[in-house]
Amino acid sequence: MRSKIVAGNWKMNKNLAETKALIADLVAKLPETNAEVMVAPTFVNLTNAVDGVKSSKIEVLAQNMHFAESGAYTGEISADMLINIGINTVILGHSERRAYFGETDDILAKKVKTALDKNLRVMFCFGEELEDRKSGNHFSLVESQLKNALFSLPESAWSNIVLAYEPVWAIGTGETASPEQAQEMHAFIRKTIADAYNAEVADNVSILYGGSVKPANAKEIFSKEDVDGGLIGGAALAADDFVAIINGI
Ligand code: 13P
Repeated sequence: MRSKIVAGNWKMNKNLAETKALIADLVAKLPETNAEVMVAPTFVNLTNAVDGVKSSKIEVLAQNMHFAESGAYTGEISADMLINIGINTVILGHSERRAYFGETDDILAKKVKTALDKNLRVMFCFGEELEDRKSGNHFSLVESQLKNALFSLPESAWSNIVLAYEPVWAIGTGETASPEQAQEMHAFIRKTIADAYNAEVADNVSILYGGSVKPANAKEIFSKEDVDGGLIGGAALAADDFVAIINGI
């Protein structure tokens, strides 16, 4: 059975005091839910966030990591460093990492492998740009992103993978994929995984939608059969909005 998940990607927002305050607010306001609830603050505040969620069911995620074990990689963070401070899940492949920091499918394949080898759960992000959608190339682009980074993995690895489909044209733009567009792509993703592996792997993987999810549209998007939750950017930065989105699942 795949789980429902609502995750907040805080990106490069919130200083230490703001992180502590938002975590405390979320812990206080978290509704009863069967969904997994996750937040991903910036690296420097992860330890405080991990401390802050201890009395709750909220999980703290990292936004990225390096593929190497350790060594001369100035400015980077390893899987072991994350595990050591109590992180169990890492976001990899976010479109901002791909667009602004040169992360290719090859680099992401290495990162995914390292994370899984270390027993971290991976929230793998992918999605097409506006030109891909306009040219009708969005399905093949998404298929290639999955294939290049994930399809060499053994079947057993998939119990530690969550997918987050985030069409780049919908991120931070206020333009959301319609619930029908999200469902269409999520169903395609599940079929692609079923073809590459089998129906059981495809049925058991949670596929989140990300891109301008707000309290006003969350419920309708989450109601779609193959949408198992959301990866939320801007609206995860205010406790009341994030809680309202959780209530939509
Ligand atoms: P927005 O919700 O701000 O569009 O961001 C989505 C996102 O990139 C989450 O990772």
